[in-house]
Amino acid sequence: MTTKPYAMQSPAAGPNVRNNSRAPQPVNTLAGRDLCSICDLSAADVRLILNTAHTVKARPAQYRHALASKQLVMFFEKDSLRTRLTFEVGINTLGGSAIFIDQTASRLGARETLADVAHNLERWVDVIVLRTYAHETITGMAGYARVPVVNALSDIEHPCQALTDIFTLEEHFGDLRGLKIAYVGDGNNVAHSLLLAAVLMGANITLASPEGYGPKPEFIAAAQAMAATPAGTLRCVTDPREAVAGADAVYTDAWASMGQEHEAEMRQTIFHAYQVNRELMALAAPHAVFMHCLPAHRGEEVTDEVIDSAHSVVFDQAENRMHVQKAILLLLLDAAQPDFGARKRSNIPTF
Ligand code: CP
Ligand code: NVA
Repeated sequence: MTTKPYAMQSPAAGPNVRNNSRAPQPVNTLAGRDLCSICDLSAADVRLILNTAHTVKARPAQYRHALASKQLVMFFEKDSLRTRLTFEVGINTLGGSAIFIDQTASRLGARETLADVAHNLERWVDVIVLRTYAHETITGMAGYARVPVVNALSDIEHPCQALTDIFTLEEHFGDLRGLKIAYVGDGNNVAHSLLLAAVLMGANITLASPEGYGPKPEFIAAAQAMAATPAGTLRCVTDPREAVAGADAVYTDAWASMGQEHEAEMRQTIFHAYQVNRELMALAAPHAVFMHCLPAHRGEEVTDEVIDSAHSVVFDQAENRMHVQKAILLLLLDAAQPDFGARKRSNIPTF
């Protein structure tokens, strides 16, 4: 993806901003780019996002003016609780503003062409966040718009979720390399992004899905193409017990995703043996965490006793959506340096 000219105007990132840190600052390889897919990212890009997110989470006050006067717009064709709120709260705490456009009544591009929408938006806003059915709507907007576009979930990927998930795992375990992740259930958007992010960062992921419901072959191929150092490994199986045996983390998601509601009853039968319950969790490592992107369908893909147990990190994941997306916005808009200049001007303590 080429660098986008409208995305490179952050005053906080300019050469005149004072930065008291003596540590050499990493080159921001994400400035002015889109985030449509984990496939867009190198291991170094992901490392930069994770490191930035750890810093932003630890010292949020240092970034409270970093996106001052920046405007983010969200067009969502599907419902959302976490993604919408974490982008809104996230950019507000960076000094910027968010505008939400409910797109659930019609698809983006139905009233006027996607290109025309893009060429309007790029005149008004600094970043575009899309939740759509067709992934091509997001890549199309990214191709047309001269400001960064972020995938907030499509039918085939959920990159902000996956980046948050590996951030949460790193926070919990300290190191992603060699970590054993089991994903049990539908080979869906969440599974695709998670398997790519996990392999890219050196974890070993095994997905257990019913025959015909595993990840799409192109995502398996993309993960296998990463299989150079320090990439991890990917295995696809049908037996959930095989995936979970000795795992450090057990992940599941809805059996019927948004847009598949008409298949929900049929899928309950097909996925019945893939419920993450106490018996299945007992096969994982004693220290294993339970993960879910939420919303959970309690009594279907997970039981109450697992999601409410001490092993569950689902609300850490939900919280971390905000920290990781703040890092993504700071990097795409090239404003990830701590705002020492603003602290000096305002004389307000940063902690
Ligand atoms: N996990 C997630 O994306 O949640 P929402 O659908 O509520 O945004
Ligand atoms: N796979 C789910 C994820 C929701 C966050 C869906 O697409 O509905």
